[in-house]
Amino acid sequence: MEITNVTEYEAIAKEKLPKMVYDYYASGAEDQWTLKENRNAFSRILFRPRILVDVSKIDMTTTVLGFKISMPIMIAPTAMQKMAHPEGEYATARAASAAGTIMTLSSWATSSVEEVASTGPGIRFFQLYVCKDRNVVAQLVRRAERAGFKAIALTVDTPRLGRREADIKNRFTLPPFLTLKNFEGLDLGKMDKTDDSGLASYVAGQVDRSLSWKDVKWLQTITSLPILVKGVLTAEDARLAIQAGAAGIIVSNHGARQLDFVPATIMALEEVVKAAQGRVPVFLDGGVRRGTDVFKALALGASGIFIGRPVVFSLAAEGEAGVRKVLQMLRDEFELTMALNGCRSLKEITRNHIVTDWDQPR
Ligand code: FNR
Repeated sequence: MEITNVTEYEAIAKEKLPKMVYDYYASGAEDQWTLKENRNAFSRILFRPRILVDVSKIDMTTTVLGFKISMPIMIAPTAMQKMAHPEGEYATARAASAAGTIMTLSSWATSSVEEVASTGPGIRFFQLYVCKDRNVVAQLVRRAERAGFKAIALTVDTPRLGRREADIKNRFTLPPFLTLKNFEGLDLGKMDKTDDSGLASYVAGQVDRSLSWKDVKWLQTITSLPILVKGVLTAEDARLAIQAGAAGIIVSNHGARQLDFVPATIMALEEVVKAAQGRVPVFLDGGVRRGTDVFKALALGASGIFIGRPVVFSLAAEGEAGVRKVLQMLRDEFELTMALNGCRSLKEITRNHIVTDWDQPR
């Protein structure tokens, strides 16, 4: 069957993967209200396309933290990709560099920062979970830096793991033939099977719940890499993130896997953009499955977006080729959306190209 859009990979992944793995990738927290809302909210934003603009040439290139990329579509960190495909994070890294875009590697990857770096050139960010042992954190950040990673995406929405009921029912744990390679040889490299979600127990044991704004400052004392604060949903926290020295903000609700009943990220985006006042770039992840979604996020002020689940589902279906295809389909759809809205470059995408159901009548 020919794949014609990103969401079609989910059904294929569901068929191919063990139930425990598929459920881990697909699930959201509790009632999964936010999970659905992350998608639904995009459908409350409509276009106000401009006509008779010469769109024979479309430029989708952009610059993120000074790095030039081919399009404003990047890869979010998703843990444990070798559960999806034997090549796991290697395949994702290669697909990202082939597409000329950025991959973010998870702290909980099944390939290490050095291994991913060894796949060849590419612009990569490293996602950081801060564990209790700060020496381990400092060492890992240093390793990422040495391996050529260009920024740290500090995840701030996970002092504890959200309640993902499928993982509890399935007694989710990392299969024994895999390890969290960034922590190999340490206690943190393994995940025990427990009588609920093995990942929830892992987080409870290892992740530092006391993490606070002062630690964002501390992080800057141990690295010169720019820090993106991942998991901002309010104007208040956007201001604090900038005060704390963040180089950028990622509006994210962790793919609806943490606190249920937070708004869809596309609903929270505009207040964060306004609070940032152009001082740092604001990015978004959560529910982006179409080129039209990318355009809507940019029209609301995002500098770019990241995708999570489409990567693991396409990886499960077709490995590196699947991830390449996902990036290509989103790129093509986004280009078409720009053309049909009369935009030739990202800077021509404006708030006036969309209308939302929270806008005042004109
Ligand atoms: C994630 N996410 C995530 N975030 C993070 O900071 N570190 C991580 O290790 C992971 N792992 C992870 C695994 C899986 C299976 C999913 C689905 C998500 C969250 C991720 O970076 C991103 O915020 C969301 O996935 C974006 O939403 P979509 O694109 O999945 O809807």
